[in-house]
Amino acid sequence: MLIKKPTDIAPSEITPPELYARRREFLKSTAALGAVALLGPLIASRTARAAEDDLKLTPYKDITSYNNFVELGSGKTAPARANGNLRAKPWSVAVAGHCEKPGVYSLEDFLAGQMAEERIYRLRCVETWSMVIPWLGIPLNKILPRFKPTADAKYVEFTTLLDPERMPGQQSRALKWPYVEGLRIDEAMHPLTLLATGLYGKDLLDQNGAPLRLVVPWKYGFKSIKSIVKINFTDSPPRTTWNLEVPDEYGFYANVNPNVDHPRWSQKKERRIGDFFRRDTLIFNGYAEQVAGLYKGMDLKKNF
Ligand code: MTE
Repeated sequence: MLIKKPTDIAPSEITPPELYARRREFLKSTAALGAVALLGPLIASRTARAAEDDLKLTPYKDITSYNNFVELGSGKTAPARANGNLRAKPWSVAVAGHCEKPGVYSLEDFLAGQMAEERIYRLRCVETWSMVIPWLGIPLNKILPRFKPTADAKYVEFTTLLDPERMPGQQSRALKWPYVEGLRIDEAMHPLTLLATGLYGKDLLDQNGAPLRLVVPWKYGFKSIKSIVKINFTDSPPRTTWNLEVPDEYGFYANVNPNVDHPRWSQKKERRIGDFFRRDTLIFNGYAEQVAGLYKGMDLKKNF
């Protein structure tokens, strides 16, 4: 959740990473900085103790060494070992489709005038592991309006860099490249949807999707596409990578849902990285209060 209102705090003033080591100290320190500690409606509805355990941060080392990023290698440790190949600077983002201001923007222009915010979100992978990550990023709904999407912009399609030299995994046919993901426009504009540029107060490393990746905390992790080079406003649902690859296993929506099993395994439980025991998976990954309204009247079993 949003832990502090960042509007008047420069990214450079954000809590130094050492302070994340113990959550109590971190909370105390943000209060000392004069920042508002907003634990949000979800947390308010639980006991403080449960909330603290639920949002206990996954260590930086685990977040940056246990990854899924097929372009940098398959297997959880390969992406971190490939670190350095991606060379995320300079970077540009193409904006295309149903909008009044398409173009190719340098990353600096693309993010111009925006302030990074810190948000602690749960990340639930479809493979049943999970983490709690303190992202640094900009809500997508602060960025998209700049490009003036038109009434035909019903969906947003995101594309990862295609460059087999910098992304050695693309030399294999593990997936159809480039990796593509998509959201309905209302999902893209939801206040929880983040374009992340960092975590633990530092810039993203290659393995986490440098320099810019999506974070949609109520959806399975594969929706959170990394190293984005293109944003395309479309009038029909984008053809997304995992959905194209295995349509009966990975739906377009991919909302975290313990009541809809993956055809090959249950989605009822998850293992938080670092924990021994598994815990219950929460509908919409615990963000139902904020996002369930987006899917009112929809059959979540059909629209998985
Ligand atoms: N984005 C791209 N381009 N390629 C990928 O292989 N893996 C996805 C997602 N984004 C992936 C991607 C999956 S399956 C997950 S669970 C998350 O990234 C993992 O993010 P993390 O490694 O930062 O924890």
